[in-house]
Amino acid sequence: MTHAVFSDLMPSTVSIAQEAPADMAGREALLEAALGPARHRKTSARLRAGRLPAEGLAFTAHDGIHVVGTIRLWHIIAGGVPALLLGPLAVAKSHEGQGLGSRLMRRALAEAAFRGHAAVILVGDAPYYQRFGFSRSLTENLILPGPVEPDRFLGLELKPGALSDACGLVVAAGERAPAANRAARSQSGSRDRLERKAA
Ligand SMILES: CC(C)(COP(=O)(O)OP(=O)(O)OC[C@H]1O[C@@H](n2cnc3c(N)ncnc32)[C@H](O)[C@@H]1OP(=O)(O)O)[C@@H](O)C(=O)NCCC(=O)NCCS
Repeated sequence: MTHAVFSDLMPSTVSIAQEAPADMAGREALLEAALGPARHRKTSARLRAGRLPAEGLAFTAHDGIHVVGTIRLWHIIAGGVPALLLGPLAVAKSHEGQGLGSRLMRRALAEAAFRGHAAVILVGDAPYYQRFGFSRSLTENLILPGPVEPDRFLGLELKPGALSDACGLVVAAGERAPAANRAARSQSGSRDRLERKAA
């Protein structure tokens, strides 16, 4: 009997934990299946590219065998105000409609609030995210660095009034990922060399 058939017969217990290096391959496979390669071209991906997720704010859900859910939050500056960007959120097809997406959302938002973060923005389906308190009205004065359907650009205040002065462009603010750091250093190294040559 294969794992797949066997696991269909077992009541599955899904646990949520902080993302670990061992989750990476399973997480990528899940994202590829749930969102496809287009995920890399989304405007919100520009705010994540080359950055690390916010400390303690990346979670995976496991069914004991596979990664079956993922969520991450990222540092951004939203029109002058420090905030977090949520995404991607994905749940394996096999586990959809069982409340796992909601569990991941509530866990990540609770941890963000516990860590003192004041606000979260995201790009996603309002009918889904409204249940967690996200609304379009909080992002009306904000601009993302690329195209987005306005109705899908949503915000949530973890501290009341946190987004009231947020106005203007949203920019990435997360710590650079090690590979991006190396690339940035080598770019600035080549720039330095060119500038020295030109001088
Ligand atoms: C969206 C997603 C995370 C929901 O996960 P889930 O575990 O099935 O969600 P939950 O079980 O917590 O909630 C299910 C409820 O949300 C609703 N729902 C799911 N996706 C929805 C959407 N895009 N718009 C509106 N409602 C949605 C379901 O109809 C269901 O409603 P009900 O509670 O009234 O029956 C999951 O379907 C998924 O990974 N989709 C593909 C990736 C994606 O679109 N991610 C979000 C953008 S980053």
